[in-house]
Amino acid sequence: MLNLGILISGRGSNMEAILKAIKRKKIPINVAVVISNKSDARGLGIAQKFGIKTEVVESKGFKGTRLDYDKMLISVLEKYKVTPKNGLVCLAGFMRIISPEFVRKYKHRILNMHPALLPSFPGLDAQKQAVEYGAKYSGCTVHFVDEGVDTGPVIIQSVVKVKDDDTSETLAKRILVQEHKIYPEAVRLIAEGRVKIVGRRTKIN
Ligand code: GAR
Repeated sequence: MLNLGILISGRGSNMEAILKAIKRKKIPINVAVVISNKSDARGLGIAQKFGIKTEVVESKGFKGTRLDYDKMLISVLEKYKVTPKNGLVCLAGFMRIISPEFVRKYKHRILNMHPALLPSFPGLDAQKQAVEYGAKYSGCTVHFVDEGVDTGPVIIQSVVKVKDDDTSETLAKRILVQEHKIYPEAVRLIAEGRVKIVGRRTKIN
Protein backbone atom coordinates (compact mmCIF):
# COMPACT_ATOMS: atom_id res chain seq x y z
CA MET A 1 0.00 0.00 0.00
CA LEU A 2 1.24 3.50 -0.85
CA ASN A 3 1.91 6.06 1.88
CA LEU A 4 0.25 9.39 1.14
CA GLY A 5 1.58 12.81 2.08
CA ILE A 6 -0.67 15.82 1.44
CA LEU A 7 0.82 19.31 1.15
CA ILE A 8 -1.42 22.29 1.87
CA SER A 9 -1.18 26.03 2.43
CA GLY A 10 -4.63 27.07 3.55
CA ARG A 11 -8.27 26.06 3.46
CA GLY A 12 -7.58 22.41 2.71
CA SER A 13 -10.90 21.58 1.06
CA ASN A 14 -9.29 19.33 -1.54
CA MET A 15 -7.37 17.58 1.22
CA GLU A 16 -10.64 17.11 3.09
CA ALA A 17 -12.31 15.64 -0.01
CA ILE A 18 -9.42 13.20 -0.40
CA LEU A 19 -9.50 12.19 3.29
CA LYS A 20 -13.29 11.69 3.19
CA ALA A 21 -13.12 9.56 0.06
CA ILE A 22 -10.30 7.42 1.44
CA LYS A 23 -12.39 6.75 4.54
CA ARG A 24 -15.77 6.24 2.87
CA LYS A 25 -14.72 4.44 -0.26
CA LYS A 26 -11.98 2.46 1.44
CA ILE A 27 -9.30 3.57 -1.00
CA PRO A 28 -6.26 1.34 -0.41
CA ILE A 29 -3.77 4.01 0.64
CA ASN A 30 -2.27 4.94 4.00
CA VAL A 31 -2.52 8.66 4.82
CA ALA A 32 0.84 9.19 6.50
CA VAL A 33 1.01 12.97 7.00
CA VAL A 34 -0.42 16.37 6.10
CA ILE A 35 2.22 19.09 5.82
CA SER A 36 1.56 22.83 5.64
CA ASN A 37 3.96 25.64 4.84
CA LYS A 38 1.81 27.91 7.02
CA SER A 39 1.16 27.33 10.69
CA ASP A 40 -2.30 28.96 10.53
CA ALA A 41 -3.60 26.86 7.62
CA ARG A 42 -7.22 25.95 8.32
CA GLY A 43 -6.65 22.53 6.77
CA LEU A 44 -4.36 21.48 9.65
CA GLY A 45 -7.29 21.37 12.09
CA ILE A 46 -9.39 19.40 9.60
CA ALA A 47 -6.62 16.82 9.16
CA GLN A 48 -6.30 16.46 12.92
CA LYS A 49 -10.04 15.79 13.20
CA PHE A 50 -9.50 12.90 10.80
CA GLY A 51 -6.77 11.66 13.15
CA ILE A 52 -4.01 12.39 10.64
CA LYS A 53 -0.55 13.47 11.78
CA THR A 54 0.28 17.05 10.78
CA GLU A 55 3.52 18.96 10.42
CA VAL A 56 4.36 22.57 9.64
CA VAL A 57 7.42 23.49 7.59
CA GLU A 58 7.13 27.26 7.83
CA SER A 59 8.09 29.05 4.64
CA LYS A 60 7.49 32.62 5.82
CA GLY A 61 10.76 34.26 6.70
CA PHE A 62 12.75 31.23 5.53
CA LYS A 63 16.10 32.54 4.37
CA GLY A 64 17.46 29.56 2.45
CA THR A 65 17.01 28.57 -1.20
CA ARG A 66 14.00 26.78 -2.67
CA LEU A 67 16.05 23.59 -2.60
CA ASP A 68 16.95 24.09 1.08
CA TYR A 69 13.24 24.43 1.85
CA ASP A 70 12.33 21.38 -0.19
CA LYS A 71 15.02 19.34 1.58
CA MET A 72 13.19 20.05 4.83
CA LEU A 73 9.93 18.93 3.24
CA ILE A 74 11.55 15.76 1.94
CA SER A 75 12.98 14.93 5.35
CA VAL A 76 9.48 15.23 6.86
CA LEU A 77 8.04 13.04 4.09
CA GLU A 78 10.78 10.47 4.71
CA LYS A 79 10.09 10.56 8.45
CA TYR A 80 6.55 9.39 7.61
CA LYS A 81 7.80 6.88 5.03
CA VAL A 82 6.42 8.78 2.07
CA THR A 83 9.33 7.79 -0.14
CA PRO A 84 9.84 7.83 -3.92
CA LYS A 85 9.48 4.05 -3.85
CA ASN A 86 6.25 3.65 -1.89
CA GLY A 87 4.83 7.12 -1.52
CA LEU A 88 2.44 9.51 -3.19
CA VAL A 89 2.47 13.26 -2.61
CA CYS A 90 -0.63 15.35 -3.29
CA LEU A 91 -0.25 19.09 -3.66
CA ALA A 92 -3.63 20.36 -2.49
CA GLY A 93 -3.65 24.14 -2.65
CA PHE A 94 0.07 24.12 -1.80
CA MET A 95 0.98 27.58 -3.03
CA ARG A 96 4.69 27.07 -3.62
CA ILE A 97 6.59 26.01 -6.69
CA ILE A 98 8.62 22.95 -5.89
CA SER A 99 12.23 22.56 -6.95
CA PRO A 100 13.32 20.41 -9.92
CA GLU A 101 15.33 18.30 -7.47
CA PHE A 102 12.19 17.45 -5.46
CA VAL A 103 10.29 16.67 -8.67
CA ARG A 104 13.09 14.44 -9.98
CA LYS A 105 13.45 12.58 -6.69
CA TYR A 106 9.70 11.87 -6.55
CA LYS A 107 9.30 11.29 -10.28
CA HIS A 108 5.69 10.44 -11.15
CA ARG A 109 4.90 10.40 -7.45
CA ILE A 110 3.59 13.95 -7.07
CA LEU A 111 0.10 15.05 -8.07
CA ASN A 112 -1.33 18.54 -8.37
CA MET A 113 -4.81 19.99 -8.75
CA HIS A 114 -5.08 22.99 -11.03
CA PRO A 115 -8.34 24.97 -11.30
CA ALA A 116 -8.39 25.21 -15.12
CA LEU A 117 -8.34 22.92 -18.12
CA LEU A 118 -4.61 22.68 -18.74
CA PRO A 119 -2.76 23.69 -20.82
CA SER A 120 -5.05 26.73 -20.62
CA PHE A 121 -4.53 29.20 -17.82
CA PRO A 122 -1.55 27.77 -15.91
CA GLY A 123 -0.06 29.53 -12.91
CA LEU A 124 -1.81 31.76 -10.42
CA ASP A 125 -5.45 32.92 -10.45
CA ALA A 126 -6.54 30.43 -13.09
CA GLN A 127 -10.25 31.13 -12.60
CA LYS A 128 -9.67 34.88 -12.98
CA GLN A 129 -7.63 34.23 -16.12
CA ALA A 130 -10.50 32.20 -17.61
CA VAL A 131 -13.11 34.90 -16.88
CA GLU A 132 -10.90 37.71 -18.16
CA TYR A 133 -10.05 35.79 -21.32
CA GLY A 134 -13.73 35.25 -22.01
CA ALA A 135 -13.46 31.45 -22.17
CA LYS A 136 -16.84 29.70 -22.46
CA TYR A 137 -15.58 26.59 -20.67
CA SER A 138 -13.01 26.06 -17.98
CA GLY A 139 -12.68 23.40 -15.32
CA CYS A 140 -9.98 21.60 -13.40
CA THR A 141 -7.13 19.19 -13.98
CA VAL A 142 -5.36 16.62 -11.85
CA HIS A 143 -1.90 16.03 -13.25
CA PHE A 144 1.47 14.57 -12.39
CA VAL A 145 3.99 17.24 -11.48
CA ASP A 146 6.99 17.63 -13.74
CA GLU A 147 9.66 20.32 -13.78
CA GLY A 148 7.45 22.93 -15.43
CA VAL A 149 4.60 24.94 -13.95
CA ASP A 150 1.36 22.96 -14.45
CA THR A 151 2.81 21.05 -17.40
CA GLY A 152 2.91 17.39 -16.30
CA PRO A 153 0.87 14.48 -17.74
CA VAL A 154 -2.87 14.90 -17.21
CA ILE A 155 -4.73 12.23 -15.23
CA ILE A 156 -8.33 13.54 -15.05
CA GLN A 157 -10.07 16.73 -16.15
CA SER A 158 -13.55 18.03 -15.52
CA VAL A 159 -15.26 20.70 -17.64
CA VAL A 160 -17.23 23.60 -16.14
CA LYS A 161 -19.24 26.04 -18.26
CA VAL A 162 -18.41 29.70 -17.74
CA LYS A 163 -21.61 31.73 -17.39
CA ASP A 164 -21.93 35.18 -18.92
CA ASP A 165 -22.28 36.77 -15.51
CA ASP A 166 -19.57 34.74 -13.77
CA THR A 167 -16.97 36.47 -11.66
CA SER A 168 -13.75 34.66 -10.78
CA GLU A 169 -15.33 33.90 -7.38
CA THR A 170 -18.56 32.35 -8.71
CA LEU A 171 -16.64 30.35 -11.30
CA ALA A 172 -14.11 29.21 -8.68
CA LYS A 173 -16.96 27.96 -6.51
CA ARG A 174 -18.38 25.72 -9.25
CA ILE A 175 -14.93 24.51 -10.30
CA LEU A 176 -14.19 23.60 -6.67
CA VAL A 177 -17.16 21.21 -6.62
CA GLN A 178 -15.55 19.34 -9.52
CA GLU A 179 -12.10 19.46 -7.91
CA HIS A 180 -13.52 17.61 -4.92
CA LYS A 181 -14.74 14.84 -7.22
CA ILE A 182 -11.74 14.30 -9.47
CA TYR A 183 -8.87 14.64 -6.99
CA PRO A 184 -10.04 11.72 -4.80
CA GLU A 185 -10.78 9.76 -7.98
CA ALA A 186 -7.22 10.27 -9.24
CA VAL A 187 -5.82 9.16 -5.87
CA ARG A 188 -8.00 6.04 -6.04
CA LEU A 189 -6.83 5.16 -9.55
CA ILE A 190 -3.19 5.52 -8.53
CA ALA A 191 -3.67 3.65 -5.25
CA GLU A 192 -5.21 0.81 -7.24
CA GLY A 193 -2.25 0.82 -9.64
CA ARG A 194 -4.42 1.68 -12.62
CA VAL A 195 -2.56 4.68 -14.03
CA LYS A 196 0.21 4.15 -16.55
CA ILE A 197 2.30 6.99 -17.95
CA VAL A 198 3.22 6.72 -21.62
CA GLY A 199 5.22 9.76 -22.68
CA ARG A 200 3.01 12.79 -22.06
CA ARG A 201 -0.12 10.71 -21.83
CA THR A 202 -1.64 8.65 -19.06
CA LYS A 203 -3.59 5.48 -19.66
CA ILE A 204 -6.22 4.42 -17.16
CA ASN A 205 -7.01 0.73 -16.81
C1 GAR B 1 -8.01 25.07 -5.16
O1 GAR B 1 -8.97 25.73 -5.94
C2 GAR B 1 -6.88 24.56 -6.03
O2 GAR B 1 -7.32 24.13 -7.28
C3 GAR B 1 -6.03 25.78 -6.14
O3 GAR B 1 -6.06 26.37 -4.88
C4 GAR B 1 -7.29 26.04 -4.24
C5 GAR B 1 -6.97 25.41 -2.90
O4 GAR B 1 -8.14 25.19 -2.17
N1 GAR B 1 -4.69 25.43 -6.50
C6 GAR B 1 -3.94 26.16 -7.33
O5 GAR B 1 -4.32 27.20 -7.83
C7 GAR B 1 -2.58 25.60 -7.61
N2 GAR B 1 -1.91 26.36 -8.61
P1 GAR B 1 -8.17 24.18 -0.95
O6 GAR B 1 -7.03 24.58 -0.02
O7 GAR B 1 -9.50 24.40 -0.34
O8 GAR B 1 -7.99 22.79 -1.49
